[in-house]
Amino acid sequence: MPERTPILTLPVHSRPRDTLNRPLHDLRISVMDRCNFRCPYCMPRETFHEHYRFLKSTERLSFEEITRLTRLFAQLGVKKVRLTGGEPLLRANISELVGELTAIEGVQDVALTTNGVLLAQHAAELKANGLHRITVSLDTLDAEIFKQMSGGFAERDRVLEGIRAAQDAGLTPIKINSVVERGLNDHTVLDLIEYFRGSGVIVRFIEYMDVGTRNHWSRERVVASRELLDLIGARWPLHAVEENYHGEVAERYAFDDGAGEVGFISSVTNPFCGSCTRARLSSEGVFYTCLFARSGLDLRAPLRDGASDDELRTLISDTWTRRGDRYSELRSSLQTAEQPLRKIEMYYIGG
Ligand code: GTP
Ligand code: 5AD
Ligand code: SF4
Ligand code: SF4
Repeated sequence: MPERTPILTLPVHSRPRDTLNRPLHDLRISVMDRCNFRCPYCMPRETFHEHYRFLKSTERLSFEEITRLTRLFAQLGVKKVRLTGGEPLLRANISELVGELTAIEGVQDVALTTNGVLLAQHAAELKANGLHRITVSLDTLDAEIFKQMSGGFAERDRVLEGIRAAQDAGLTPIKINSVVERGLNDHTVLDLIEYFRGSGVIVRFIEYMDVGTRNHWSRERVVASRELLDLIGARWPLHAVEENYHGEVAERYAFDDGAGEVGFISSVTNPFCGSCTRARLSSEGVFYTCLFARSGLDLRAPLRDGASDDELRTLISDTWTRRGDRYSELRSSLQTAEQPLRKIEMYYIGG
């Protein structure tokens, strides 16, 4: 565990900046380390088998603890909160947590990223508890390939039903995250777009990333966004549009015919660390300042040892102030075949 830093009292609402002058603006909270899929690029089955030791429920932060920490993060500048996992809809009573988080002063946007399988049964309740919008992972419409890309668990029609339920509930704008892997689903990209064009649902393609250490990532399997942009643009002409907010992860393109937009998340070929304002909180309460972090700050221990709000805020603020992460920009110089880096797995840290 990292050393506890000396306690200094911070004025409430101070806004820390990291060593690259990036403010703290988004908090991504992994509420559940388990998942009902085994996507090979995230939780490959050979590692995450039936005897794999996930966290015990007492090891996970309680809703009260998550809410308290989020309030402190909000006082330090966080305005956007995203619930992730693992699969966040596996966490019992997740809507209650949504209700607590949307009530926090300063939090303007609460979204959730899900694999969609349990969405149909949760959409209305999530909306009723104040969730603003939802993002669903759906790598392809090809039922067989989708099944393969989920480690054998995805049922395409249930995910599509979940997306429809989210639309009906008004959890909009709905975004679809599609990880593209060369030789696997890259030939199904146009079908995915065709299905959602004109529906208001925004499809975003994600370059396959080297998150964690167990997904056998290789550069050859990455399909560069530029390549997809050319492919899609040849079929439906596109033009670039302004980012919705500073530091948006996806680059946006709109169809010239007005049938909506498509996004590209190019962490490999066009890193966006310069404007990265995202903090991450794992399900057991470790605070990470980068998706590719090798270590983080345990907030659960001080929380459970009775630390005051001032003490916790200072720990968070000091950690952010020391932050210099820009992994994606440094990827090629850091990652050598002889010396792979030990990194935290994505299902644990929250995508
Ligand atoms: P919006 O608020 O809708 O713009 O969402 P978002 O794009 O910030 O969140 P989402 O969970 O949909 O992120 C999409 C994907 O982008 C994630 O699943 C990751 O694969 C990737 N991603 C998000 N944030 C980061 C980041 O900070 N670094 C890297 N390398 N990838 C990220
Ligand atoms: N590369 C790119 N995206 C990934 N995701 C999970 N693992 C990877 C990876 N190795 C994405 C999922 C989901 C989100 C939480 O993260 O597709 O949309
Ligand atoms: Fe589960 Fe999402 Fe990881 Fe797939 S990518 S194993 S759905 S957390
Ligand atoms: Fe942010 Fe780290 Fe991703 Fe760069 S690699 S955008 S610093 S989370």
